Amino acid sequence: MKKVFIYFSLSGNGEVVAKQLEAKGYEIRRVFKKGQKANKKPGFFTIFRGGFRAGMNKKDKLEPYDTNIDGYDEIVIGSPIWNSKFSCPINRVLADLNLKDKKLSFIFYSGSGTAEKAVERVSKEYPDSKIIILKEPKKYEDELLKIIL
Ligand SMILES: Cc1cc2nc3c(=O)[nH]c(=O)nc-3n(C[C@H](O)[C@H](O)[C@H](O)COP(=O)(O)O)c2cc1C
Repeated sequence: MKKVFIYFSLSGNGEVVAKQLEAKGYEIRRVFKKGQKANKKPGFFTIFRGGFRAGMNKKDKLEPYDTNIDGYDEIVIGSPIWNSKFSCPINRVLADLNLKDKKLSFIFYSGSGTAEKAVERVSKEYPDSKIIILKEPKKYEDELLKIIL
């Protein structure tokens, strides 16, 4: 069984999730926005711009990453929630990868523990997939117990 967790993180919540999945035997692939460095608490401008762009379903440019998912039995996609939607880096990942015919799950991490518009999109575009929503797992470690795949 080959399984991979492909995720984006700006301030480290996704990274906590990745550690958990690594322990469960998932290969880990983190994608980075072009020019993105280490985990960083987003400032006002980043939140404003990211929220606006996510609201428009924009796709960010990414640093080169491995898009090959041939031969993987299970794919898990991790995204922070931006403006109730997928983050712009993960919009790019969803456009890059052909996720049809894969066992697919989504893990969202958000400030509120909700992800309404992202969930709506998943139900329309990936109706057979599983959704897990976590509230700030870096701060609330118990949230990681919700990861049952
Ligand atoms: C641009 C931006 C927009 C956000 N919008 C929302 C939102 O609509 N709802 C919410 O609950 N949290 C929102 N958040 C909070 C993040 O989803 C939350 O802190 C998440 O855990 C961050 O994950 P990360 O640390 O892996 O980047 C937003 C954060 C950013 C940077």
